[in-house]
Amino acid sequence: SDIEKGAYPHYMLKEIDEQPFVLRKIIQEYQGESGSLEIDDSVTAAILDADRIYIVACGTSYHAGLVGKQLIEKLAAIPVEVHLASEFCYNMPLLTEKPFFIFISQSGETADSRAVLVKVKEMNHPALVITNVPGSTLFREADFTLLLHAGPEIAVASTKAYTAQIAVLSILAYATGKAKGASTDLNLAKELGAAANAMETLCDDKEEFEHIAAEYLRAAFDCFFIGRSIDYYVGLEGALKLKEISYIQAEGFAGGELKHGTMALIEKETPVIALATQSYVNGSIRANVKEVAARGAHTCIISSTGLEAEGDRYVLPAVHEMLTPLVSVIPLQLIAYYAALHRGCDVDKPRNLAKSVTVE
Ligand code: G6P
Repeated sequence: SDIEKGAYPHYMLKEIDEQPFVLRKIIQEYQGESGSLEIDDSVTAAILDADRIYIVACGTSYHAGLVGKQLIEKLAAIPVEVHLASEFCYNMPLLTEKPFFIFISQSGETADSRAVLVKVKEMNHPALVITNVPGSTLFREADFTLLLHAGPEIAVASTKAYTAQIAVLSILAYATGKAKGASTDLNLAKELGAAANAMETLCDDKEEFEHIAAEYLRAAFDCFFIGRSIDYYVGLEGALKLKEISYIQAEGFAGGELKHGTMALIEKETPVIALATQSYVNGSIRANVKEVAARGAHTCIISSTGLEAEGDRYVLPAVHEMLTPLVSVIPLQLIAYYAALHRGCDVDKPRNLAKSVTVE
């Protein structure tokens, strides 16, 4: 590849470190003359013409879509469904009368997503593609496009594309809400700027995440990620990162679902990483941590400034409560990276996986 790693041992580490710069670039690219973040009127008008949004994606992009659903429903009050592209074709949801489709794909080449786009276009429904690659297949076939501006992502495990997708989805949600006339006191450009600074703080704290990886995962054969609400979605991404590159069996769970099955898997020393960044579920996620700890789990709580409690393993810098995935994912990316590194895995090119999957 002609993209250089420079001083970095792996593309993944380089791409993790690029996240604050990518976020600042996105702010710049989407900033209008007034200084506020904007999306082309044609896009927001098409969305406001719809009665429901269907997000379609695979892998990490699907996880960003889950966060996007929450952002769009909160900021624009439009119902959103999120679907795995590979399920959509034969397990298609009953569509509303006026659906609007959002495809999220870093590469713009994923065959499963493209198959759905082809079908959606046959049905004459409008489709927006959010991608990192201008000129890619999905980019060319969509009615509307938004770019991630993340620069080439080389490592198979996606990192900077995930946070870029969430940032662009937040701008889309915000601009759509504004176009709808929703009143908000959110200054998104300012809040995203603060998130970029927080990301930088986390990237400067790698040693801490290397310690966590060593302490919790050196000898582990499984690991659970728990969270509620938006933290649950980030936990799914944390588990995906860990399994992709370290081959440790990893699963993300909604805190409230533990008692409905997963609790049976908790043994002495089972690593459980919990995210606690949301004030309205802080009590309940901490109750879940106590439950697994009582069964012997080795628990690691990552919380947000303002919500922290004694014994938390790491406290994230404060960012807007809706935007915490932009920062809470970074410890999980770095923990996965160091866990894989300590186990001697090929971080950038994990076995059996491809960067973009162009077959269905
Ligand atoms: C592959 C990659 C994943 C990625 C997924 C979707 O499986 O290994 O990292 O999340 O494809 O890719 P896309 O380019 O559509 O976002």
